[in-house]
Amino acid sequence: MARLPPLAVASGALLLLFVSVSPCRAAAGGGPSSVVLPVSKDDATQQYVTMFRQRTPQVPVKAVLDLAGTMLWVDCDAGYVSSSYAGVRCGAKPCRLLKNAGCAITCLDAPSAGCLNDTCSEFPKNTATSVSTAGNIITDVLSLPTTFRPAPGPLATAPAFLFTCAHTFLTQGLADGATGMVSLSRARFALPTQLADTFGFSRKFALCLPPASAPPSSSLATRPTHFHNQDEAIAMQ
Ligand SMILES: *[C@@H]1O[C@H](CO)[C@@H](O)[C@H](O)[C@H]1NC(C)=O
Repeated sequence: MARLPPLAVASGALLLLFVSVSPCRAAAGGGPSSVVLPVSKDDATQQYVTMFRQRTPQVPVKAVLDLAGTMLWVDCDAGYVSSSYAGVRCGAKPCRLLKNAGCAITCLDAPSAGCLNDTCSEFPKNTATSVSTAGNIITDVLSLPTTFRPAPGPLATAPAFLFTCAHTFLTQGLADGATGMVSLSRARFALPTQLADTFGFSRKFALCLPPASAPPSSSLATRPTHFHNQDEAIAMQ
């Protein structure tokens, strides 16, 4: 499958859309009233993939959608370069809120996103292969487009989006180019929940997942009126 250019989407692909329950309040606070992500289907794996931007300087990250899971995980071994990541300390509130969290006390390698002392850890899982591992919980900048048509942008930025750092082997079995999985579950730190907390959205989203290379044939939406085009697919408000 051809690589998608950053935050662009092929014809027939889908969108992930998150909308504020109170656009006036969000606008008054300077925050976005919605965010919209592209979704496309990877023909080879039948997985649904999305794109967002992360880190400083920002880079595009391609990740597979997971309706389960506890939070976003990405490969922090291969080429994770950022000046804005920070580990979540073992005693910090997010760590206490996570049922399955552990504590990575000491890492003797050179400090990096995946190697930090006194850092909360969790068990990111590749739900396509059922392989799981332990990884640091860290925060970093995450940017998502607020509109999609006629062109992506402007970006809404969550300065400290929480996710788990996985090792490269966990990405085996994911769609070509994907370096992680996005959790769309109800969990405390899943994508919809964190975006709701960050931008004042409610914890609802809508989703349409048509077959590859075909117009959308089915949808799941809390407010279908937010689908402006046939190929817009996931909405949250
Ligand atoms: C963690 O602490 C140990 C012992 O103080 C130190 O040797 C090591 O370099 C530290 N690791 C990181 C990643 O900072």
